[in-house]
Amino acid sequence: MPDLSEVTNMEDLKYVDFPVVLPLLEEKSRQLQFGMPSEPLLGALLRVLAASRPGGRFLELGTGTGIATTWLLDGMDVHATLMSVDVDETMQRVACEVLGHDQRLTLLVQDGVRFLKGQQARSFDLVFADAIPGKYEALEDALAVVKVGGFYVIDDMLPQANWPTGHAEKVPVLIERLASCSEFILLPLVWASGVVVAVRKQ
Ligand SMILES: C[S@@+](CC[C@H](N)C(=O)[O-])C[C@H]1O[C@@H](n2cnc3c(N)ncnc32)[C@H](O)[C@@H]1O
Repeated sequence: MPDLSEVTNMEDLKYVDFPVVLPLLEEKSRQLQFGMPSEPLLGALLRVLAASRPGGRFLELGTGTGIATTWLLDGMDVHATLMSVDVDETMQRVACEVLGHDQRLTLLVQDGVRFLKGQQARSFDLVFADAIPGKYEALEDALAVVKVGGFYVIDDMLPQANWPTGHAEKVPVLIERLASCSEFILLPLVWASGVVVAVRKQ
């Protein structure tokens, strides 16, 4: 049996150009010992989803140092906007230094639950929930802000070395909750760190 990736020329990242500032963000993340950066596979997925919504409104919960932020910005057109929220000012400052000049981006140092509570229902084309808020807390609030046809995206669903005690039990509960939500169509992907993409139905 030949290696199918050779026959079809299919490789996950072979044709994916990385955002120009990604190496700088990764270097700064290493210097700050930021231990939770998104990986390129997830970034490439977020970028293509962002590109599907010209003029879209996007939300990232958990900026970190801005790694997924730069992938999202790379996919967005000039009219789209992105809000990214984090409680950690030190980490988010990296995103601000490297990406803050981009007028499409708003960076907020704020608790994600508090932020979600202040948003209008069905007001974002994509929510990337990469913090406890929006996933394990205030899930309903995060889902509520997704527009019809919009995306709700999470990762880190496959076992991770840095999971704290008790976290592993919460993951299947979250996936089951999403799967039982009749307002969304779900695509769990055993890919990258374990991704779930959900789209709000009409
Ligand atoms: C997995 S990291 C985010 C990684 C980032 N999105 C990336 O692409 O590299 C999770 C982030 O959530 C932030 N966080 C933790 N609690 C939070 C809260 N209550 N509200 C908002 N952000 C929070 C952490 O400070 C951390 O930067």
